[in-house]
Amino acid sequence: MSASFAELTAEALATGTLSGLPDRHFIDGRPVAAASGRQMDVCDPGTASIFAQVAAGDAADIDAAVLAAQRALKGPWGRIVPAERGRILARAAAMIRAEAERLAVVETLDSGKRLVEARGDVAGAARAFEYYAGACDKLQGDSIPLGPDYLAYTLNEPAGVAAQIVPWNYPISTLARGLAPALAAGCAVVAKPAEQTPLTALMLADLLLRAGLPAGTFNVVTGTGPGAGAPLVAHPGIDHVTFTGSVVTGIGVMRAAAANVTRLVLELGGKSPVVVLADADLDAALEGVLGAIFENAGQICSAGSRLIVERRIHAAFVERIAARARSMKLGHGLRECDMGPVNSPTQLDRIAGFVDRATARGARVLCGGRRDVDPQSGRGWFFQPTVLDDLAPDDEAVTSEIFGPVLAVQIADDAAHAVELANGTEFALAAGIYTRDFATAHRLAREIDAGQVYINEYFAGGIETPFGGNRRSGFGREKGLEALRSYCRVKSVAARL
Ligand code: NAI
Ligand code: MG
Repeated sequence: MSASFAELTAEALATGTLSGLPDRHFIDGRPVAAASGRQMDVCDPGTASIFAQVAAGDAADIDAAVLAAQRALKGPWGRIVPAERGRILARAAAMIRAEAERLAVVETLDSGKRLVEARGDVAGAARAFEYYAGACDKLQGDSIPLGPDYLAYTLNEPAGVAAQIVPWNYPISTLARGLAPALAAGCAVVAKPAEQTPLTALMLADLLLRAGLPAGTFNVVTGTGPGAGAPLVAHPGIDHVTFTGSVVTGIGVMRAAAANVTRLVLELGGKSPVVVLADADLDAALEGVLGAIFENAGQICSAGSRLIVERRIHAAFVERIAARARSMKLGHGLRECDMGPVNSPTQLDRIAGFVDRATARGARVLCGGRRDVDPQSGRGWFFQPTVLDDLAPDDEAVTSEIFGPVLAVQIADDAAHAVELANGTEFALAAGIYTRDFATAHRLAREIDAGQVYINEYFAGGIETPFGGNRRSGFGREKGLEALRSYCRVKSVAARL
């Protein structure tokens, strides 16, 4: 089972793929070919070449998966005692850790991300199952005082069949952060991974079955957004939708869910600010800003894609960032490098479009600004780490989510001005604050509109900390105990004695 990272990496680099990859949907506890018989290609962004094929699902496959989930809820999964649900999730966490090498190497091939980051994502997925495993038997309700003549209490019932629409930037970790609390709450799940990155979802489905999850409890249908995603979110058998992706698609998903009055959580884009005040520990701030925008080549919903820096330190600080960015080595995610490719040619064109337009407007490009390739192979979909300096609040590069390694710099006169700039977009997902003054830090944490605020360490927190957005970044919260509530329906029972 457990080949080492070195063996798997060597096989993948030598052959461009791995043997034994899943190529069909996972429905009702087994691999199932698309009803239409159609397959679609899966690409490695680091080489820009096809390395696998999976089923191209459509409404017929979605029907089969939703029916399987409904059967599981009425059958063994619906009857299982909560402590046993917890044992299954705990076993899944241990198995994800035991099979982490293969999951991580596949994630790197599929998404392009560096292996060190893929390993972190797989560890995060294991941690999500571990965290929610402990919550299954603690979903207590309340007893409600109505006086001596009544007995009243609440029940936390599972929402039912939950759909998970997963994007391509964090395939296994985004799926796990939705799937684990849904299962902990007692829901059954149908997931539709992104067409660009379908493989680890299929591997996870097989793993969960081996961990003891009853067949049909977790189903994966691969396919495109219009082909498989749209019929899933519009399906009358779906009771809850968790969607992570673009604002435009999210609005369509919300509309489709509205037709069936299906509850939903939307985790959409962001344009999150990192505020660096003059009194900050600038070495820590430098590392934080670099990680916030160049990790995963900037393809992170909560990326710190805007640097809001106090004028007194602006020139010296952005020069340090640019110097580090210029020295970053691009490369295939399976080799030693500082940044991998972007996920698709579509995404590459989108990023290049933003930067080309900024350049045409006369923006100051401190570093990068161009498409690139893996220096070792001359292939792949790469974009250089880029810093655009001193942008106006209404500049497109400040107001739009670019979703690539492009940092937009804004200059603030003081902390109050920094808050005004931070709140100057339609998004409100995350925000970072670097200062040594804790009173200022916590005041800014209140004043900045965001679902999560990181003080003196961007991306601080984990599965324990609730995560989600305000405004056009969406609504509802994932992670933490908040996520469990979103997969439960509260029923109150009141009896006259
Ligand atoms: P997208 O929102 O279209 O895709 C995300 C997921 O939604 C994929 O699984 C896709 O198959 C599915 N989907 C697409 N159309 C659907 C439909 N009608 N019904 C149900 N599901 C559907 O995003 P896309 O086109 O891949 O990327 C475009 C931009 O979106 C990116 O440049 C980025 O700005 C943003 N984005 C944000 C993400 C986030 O984490 N918040 C993740 C991915 C993209
Ligand atoms: Mg891919």
